[in-house]
Amino acid sequence: MTKHSIRDLPIAGKVVFLRVDFNVPIKEGRITDDTRITAALPTVRLALDAGATVVLASHLGRPKGAPAPQFSLQPVADHLASLLGRPVTFATDCIGDPARAAIAAARADGGSRVVLLENLRFHSEEEKNGAAFAAALASLADVYVNDAFGAAHRAHASVAAMVPHFTSAGAGLLMEKELTYLGMALGNPARPFVGIIGGAKVSDKIEVIESLLGRVDRLIIGGAMAYTFFKALGMPVGRSLVEEDKQDAARSVMSHAQARGVQLLLPVDHVVASAIDPGAETAVLEVRDPAIGDRMGLDIGPATVHLFADALADARTVVWNGPMGVFEVPPFATGTMAIARACAAVQGTTIIGGGDSVAAVNAAGVASKMTHISTGGGASLEFLGGQTLPGVAALPDTK
Ligand code: 3PG
Ligand code: MG
Repeated sequence: MTKHSIRDLPIAGKVVFLRVDFNVPIKEGRITDDTRITAALPTVRLALDAGATVVLASHLGRPKGAPAPQFSLQPVADHLASLLGRPVTFATDCIGDPARAAIAAARADGGSRVVLLENLRFHSEEEKNGAAFAAALASLADVYVNDAFGAAHRAHASVAAMVPHFTSAGAGLLMEKELTYLGMALGNPARPFVGIIGGAKVSDKIEVIESLLGRVDRLIIGGAMAYTFFKALGMPVGRSLVEEDKQDAARSVMSHAQARGVQLLLPVDHVVASAIDPGAETAVLEVRDPAIGDRMGLDIGPATVHLFADALADARTVVWNGPMGVFEVPPFATGTMAIARACAAVQGTTIIGGGDSVAAVNAAGVASKMTHISTGGGASLEFLGGQTLPGVAALPDTK
């Protein structure tokens, strides 16, 4: 299934609604990582060069359906203006008069102008995929383009319900690139194919882990989610993060892996401490060692790094999502950094998804060695798990 591309859509002189994922980390009004903004710039520039009026729309955070100043996209408008070197008109609401007025002003300027709409999630109808809200958004523009791969796994109004309102709709350049690279891993991956899943919660990733079991040759599980597996195996976990109600899910992952002949690798040793603190006293223990007491496991240990790096050494396709420990706090970053370097050394396709793994790859200075760094976390995982992404499904096929 090929999707129409913005390259083939009639956009000259038109108002283009461009759904982007500008859900970037912001601290005290400052953007701390603008990867998702810069990743969308080629599409924005293409539309501007073609003489379109570009209406950008995004969500930011989870404001729960009502305006909240800390989730305003205003800082993104300012940053975008400096990246593009041209003014960006900010509309204080994504529908209604503020949106219409901003677009009309941009058009009056003669096209090739950029408008950024305020956070879509300030309206509860966005996440409900509401028909009236979708129609209100759609009434703003002539052409629809989705470049928000990171939000494509959400059946929300701006990625799903509004799309059928348009006769001209398609994918942006970033969306196309994501689908191409991730599609390569999904379609006919070179083997061995190794999946690395980390991060805090099993519950976030359980479905994806299950579907990955049908595709990968080896599955590495690290990070806090490993402790739910350890608990299910009756091992000592101290005060490590455990999802008590996900032990059955962990057991079923283990038995499915066995049934499918997938090698499942869990940590064999870990770095434990009493607090997530840069100055905390740490110890390396085997994961079976009851000496953990009431401490927490916060990183994988050196024997595990060795084990995981070995499992990656002959890999030809690697998909990595989620850190191996609390890598933002220095004594617990070693394992995640080592896995970043092991991925960088792989002779094959390496695909990194999820904000934390991407940050780790950047911190380890190996980003340029990866085949593809996805702007989607949940979206890339769901796609690789073989699930249909609502935001992709909504785009019309070329034939
Ligand atoms: C993300 O950062 O995961 C995407 O922007 C989607 O956001 P969400 O997880 O809040 O739906
Ligand atoms: Mg998310």
